Parts: sequence; structure tokens; C-alpha cells
Amino acid sequence: MQDFRTVAAAAAQQAGTIIADAYRTDFRVDYKEGATTNLVTEVDRRAEAAIIETLSRAFPDHRILAEEGGEGSPQASPYQWIVDPLDGTTNFAHGFPAFCVSIGLEVEGRVVLGVVYDPLRRELFEAEAGKGAFLNGERLRVSRAATLEQSLLVTGFAYDQDGRRGNLEHFSRLVLRSQGIRRTGSAAMDLCYVASGRIDGFWEMKLCPWDVAAGSLIVVEAGGVITDFAGRAFSIYGHEVLASNGLVHQAMVEALAGR
Ligand code: IPD
Ligand code: CA
Ligand code: CA
Repeated sequence: MQDFRTVAAAAAQQAGTIIADAYRTDFRVDYKEGATTNLVTEVDRRAEAAIIETLSRAFPDHRILAEEGGEGSPQASPYQWIVDPLDGTTNFAHGFPAFCVSIGLEVEGRVVLGVVYDPLRRELFEAEAGKGAFLNGERLRVSRAATLEQSLLVTGFAYDQDGRRGNLEHFSRLVLRSQGIRRTGSAAMDLCYVASGRIDGFWEMKLCPWDVAAGSLIVVEAGGVITDFAGRAFSIYGHEVLASNGLVHQAMVEALAGR
């Protein structure tokens, strides 16, 4: 597994350099599916191409699922890389400093490796199944906040207006019960911040596998818990993410359910 980790970290850092170099320069911005809330920049595409090149050179037989549509080998393989080349594109396009690269490796349906790289802070979050989670080589541990009243939470809002509206009730309930709610604009970063104890709980709906594959393993390997809103088993292909330090998990399940 060492090789996988080294290659994934190198790919994330290469993409991070492309992104950091392009930050606050003039780059092309397009709208996906014609929606002015769903942006993609030429930097997303360049970062993705660099990651795919590195991964497919090292592992020519592996499949790659990447947000901007790039692909690895079309053959069947138990190995699938799941790539978000730039998580936090809206932030990036506005010059707001919160975005990262996310690369996960799924083997036979299980995420076994996750790497998230924040190129502005030079923070490399990594985890391998069963081996713990690390930030720039230092072991990560979730926070000890025991109640919602002692918690700082984070959420995100989907690109479509219905998805956004759907989260407003959750937001208004939890903002009244916690110490505060942040919205970083990068779900992969949100998960890593739960893993590192900077945030006590995170929830969001309508995310995609590339937003959560790497970060979900990093949370679990840092001692956190990740489920759907009802506390059931989490899937990177599911519709809901609820990640926490474990101690406030049940309280979040109840708050999200309106209890
Ligand atoms: C987005 C970010 C954001 C979340 C959106 C995602 P992108 O990813 O993770 O925090 O709220 O739902 O789609 O488009 O910047 O890669
Ligand atoms: Ca994303
Ligand atoms: Ca993205």
C-alpha cells in the first residue's frame, strides 16, 4: 500500500501546485449545465489532467472516476481512484482561500486510501484503512466536544436551489443549538477539519463520491464517525453525509430529524 499512498500524495501535490500558481490570475470560468451556481474553471481541468496522468502512468490497469470526466483504463479492475481535482471551485473562482485536491482509492467497494491537499496552507491530510490519519505526518484525532452546546459545526449547500432550501431548516435548528456554524465551501476540507478536531460535526446533502471518498476515510481513521442523517451506514454514493467526533453524533441525528 505504500506505493499507492506515495503516488496519490505526489499527484495531489502536483495538482496543488497548478492550482496555487493559477490562484488569483486570469483563468476561464464556465458554468456546468447552464447553472450560474455550478462553476468549472480551466484550472479544474488542468489539475485533473495532471492527476490522471500520474495515476495512470503508475497504475495503468486501474479505473479512475474523476469529477470533470477524465478517465483511466476502461477495463474492469477492483481498483478505482476517485478524484476531485479542485474541491471548492466557487471559492477558487472568487479568490476566497479555501479549496483542496481530493484523491481516494476504492478497492472492491471499500475506500482504503484517502489524500486531501490544501495547496495554500500546504496541509496534506492522509489516511490508509486501519493505519490512522495524519496531517503533514502528525497523527490526527477528532475533538472531545461532548455536547452540541460545546460544538462548532460546518455544513454546505448544494448547487441546485431545491437542495439549498432543503438544508435551511437543518441550519436554523443547529445554529440555535451549537456554538456556531461555518460554511467553508469545500466538503473535502470540512471532513478533514472534523478529523483534525477543528470542527466537531459536519453535515451536507447531495454530495458526490469525489467530494467525500478521501475525507470519509480520514474522519474514520482519526476516530470519528460518519453515517447518513439517520445514523445508518455511510456510502460515498449516498445522498447524505453526517460526520462528527462521535460524541455529538446522536445529538446531530436528532437535530437533523427535527427532534
Ligand atoms: C463542492 C464543494 C462544496 C459543496 C458542494 C460541492 P466543487 O465541490 O465541496 O463545499 O457544498 O456541494 O459540490 O464543485 O467545488 O468541487
Ligand atoms: Ca467537490
Ligand atoms: Ca471539483
